[in-house]
Amino acid sequence: MKILGIETSCDETAAAVVENGSRIISNVVASQIDIHARYGGVVPEVASRQHLLTIIPVIDRAISEAEVSWQDIDGIAVTYGPGLAGSLLVGVNVAKAVALGKQLPITGVNHLEAHIYANFLSEAKNLSSPLNGEGKVRKGIPSPAPLNLPMDVSFPCLCLIVSGGHSDLVLMKGHGQFEKLGRTRDDAAGEAFDKAARILGLGYPGGPAIEQAATNGTPCLSLPRAWLKGSHDFSFSGLKTALWHLAERGGISVADAAASFQLAIIDVLVSKTIEAAKQLKVGQILLSGGVAANKLLTEHFLNSSPVPVLVPPPHLCTDNAAMVAACGYYHFQTGKISDYDLDVVPSLSLG
Ligand code: KG4
Ligand code: ZN
Repeated sequence: MKILGIETSCDETAAAVVENGSRIISNVVASQIDIHARYGGVVPEVASRQHLLTIIPVIDRAISEAEVSWQDIDGIAVTYGPGLAGSLLVGVNVAKAVALGKQLPITGVNHLEAHIYANFLSEAKNLSSPLNGEGKVRKGIPSPAPLNLPMDVSFPCLCLIVSGGHSDLVLMKGHGQFEKLGRTRDDAAGEAFDKAARILGLGYPGGPAIEQAATNGTPCLSLPRAWLKGSHDFSFSGLKTALWHLAERGGISVADAAASFQLAIIDVLVSKTIEAAKQLKVGQILLSGGVAANKLLTEHFLNSSPVPVLVPPPHLCTDNAAMVAACGYYHFQTGKISDYDLDVVPSLSLG
């Protein structure tokens, strides 16, 4: 079963063709980062206009790079929330128009659920990403499978979704069955990275900029960690404010500040997720979302988790349509088909 995935929830216009929920046949991402970088963050109006310009060429390219015809496509999966309303509208309306024109079934996909499903993907052929081949990382499984093979996920598993808008800890009990355990009470982890990078004058997007700057520094500055004991929630705004005060006072090395900030976020994410995994006695942890592209975060998880930790390769952690197609495949398998009145839900949550 070949699914065309479409993703336009924020600042990436993306389309992909995925077979049977795991084999990526094509994966096209048109990033708007260069456009928004000059404003220091995503400008919603600019994002939706850019999606309008690129969505059709991106879909055409996904079909042609997959070397398939429309007759080979069995269904369309599109992100309908959460995200920027104007951006989501472009993807959803184009998906509906194509579905109607080509007489294909359509399913609306929750962007957060799609991030989790990036863990179900395997790389099928040489894609353009320079990170291709890095594959999934696993630890604690007696005889590790070769990289890039489809990963067997066992339920129930614990999912940490860390992106620009969310830091959610979710128990996944089966396909499409989620229970939210924790969320951020203020800034999401990615948002905190983005704001910290702005404080330190490191540009946008902040996560990769902080990660890069941190390689030249040591985490020697004392920054607070909000543990929120007894709760699976996260909070990163106090950490951000503490960094701001340090930067205001001056005299700190940007590299040391980046390394210290990065470690503070990682400490909290790793400790609280592992604590929840132990409490709930789950057998696996699935990482996802743009922040999961952070190498140190992955390393800390792999070094301290008592259960296997799965994480997609970095280019499948950040927004893409392959994860949407993978998630859509399971929707179709379980009969979750949308009507043509599918609408965007910008504040959609998971579980
Ligand atoms: O999942 P994503 O691509 O988009 C949303 O759904 O929000 O996540 C984007 C977020 C941004 O805040 C970005 O700074 C962060 O992920 N990010 C990273 C890294 N790469 C992207 N954060 C830390 N380290 C990274 N390497
Ligand atoms: Zn995302």
